[in-house]
Amino acid sequence: MKTYRAAIIGAGVIAKVHAKTLHENARTELVAIADIAEERVRELAAAYGAAPYTDYRVMIRERAPDIVIITLPHHLHQEAAIACASLGCHVLLEKPMALNAAECADIIEASIAHNVMMAIGHMQHYYPANQKAKEIVRSGRLGQLVAIHDRRHHPYFLPERPAWFLEKSLSGGGIVINIGSHSIDKIQWLTGSAVRQVKANLTFYGDRGNVEGSGIMFMQTSAGVTATVSLCGYRNITANETELLFTGGQLKIAGNKLWVSGSEREYEEILLDEPVEPFQAQWNDVLSVVDKGTGYVESAVYGQSVCAVVDAAYRSHESGAEELVTQFADSPAGAAR
Ligand SMILES: NC(=O)c1ccc[n+]([C@@H]2O[C@H](COP(=O)([O-])OP(=O)(O)OC[C@H]3O[C@@H](n4cnc5c(N)ncnc54)[C@H](O)[C@@H]3O)[C@@H](O)[C@H]2O)c1
Repeated sequence: MKTYRAAIIGAGVIAKVHAKTLHENARTELVAIADIAEERVRELAAAYGAAPYTDYRVMIRERAPDIVIITLPHHLHQEAAIACASLGCHVLLEKPMALNAAECADIIEASIAHNVMMAIGHMQHYYPANQKAKEIVRSGRLGQLVAIHDRRHHPYFLPERPAWFLEKSLSGGGIVINIGSHSIDKIQWLTGSAVRQVKANLTFYGDRGNVEGSGIMFMQTSAGVTATVSLCGYRNITANETELLFTGGQLKIAGNKLWVSGSEREYEEILLDEPVEPFQAQWNDVLSVVDKGTGYVESAVYGQSVCAVVDAAYRSHESGAEELVTQFADSPAGAAR
């Protein structure tokens, strides 16, 4: 099996997880890591025997990685993804793909022009509970899926959160673009359909920065599924739960567990297969795409569809009305996978 040289741009919180993943992957050599924070990148690179850089363009020219993972603040995703594509690297770009869907279009264009893979890190696809839920949706065993309720309540303004997340010009927004992009992805991926309409109400009561701290959204997908998303980032709260309502039953994804409603209308846990660690599963998927040796933008077109829903949610809060999601393609390509 072919092995690949990989590099990471950004040595922050999630880069640590990616670096460990690459290090443990038999088909990958982690050759270099770049970050403008010199001490941070030296420390992470040293842990895995990789070369540290403070300029990612220099890193790519000198180390010529086959694949680069981009784990930068959101406002740098577009610039870095286009730079990597132009330098001939395949890319795994962290979610959200960019600040907005228009920026995503430029990334897709560059990926096509340079014939590289542009994969977006939509991790929800790699959690066993989500995979089993998608299998049950497709099987029709609980009847027709009619609604999804997704709740993510998680303190968002804690001191340890890097300041850029809370500055709209750098992050694109708060809990909606950051955590909500997982919720939107989950809804589209589980239903195999695109969100077409959104009504969103946001609040801005965070004690740091200028981004929203809650977002309640009401959505409709092209398959006729109604979805609600409740995102809340204020203090002393917690929830991470997705309910799927069918014509013949109910599923609940809670953390990494999956439950189904039984005949007595009580939940029973569905035992899942031994999971492959989700970041490792994602990376193996990336390698299988690169193995094919051709450009690949389906994941990026899908990533753009998620950003388009986020855009519509912010527009809806401003207008006070339900907003249609701008369509860039007939259907989100990755959603049907
Ligand atoms: N998939 C997931 O579950 C998941 C989880 C956490 C974060 N993320 C995403 O990963 C990305 C990074 O998030 P994070 O939490 O690791 O942020 P972070 O702030 O911890 O890391 C970002 C790093 O980028 C570096 N950086 C800034 N400008 C740079 C530049 N010009 N060149 C090189 N490095 C630069 C910073 O110094 C910092 O170390 C975001 O897109 C975030 O939404 C995804």
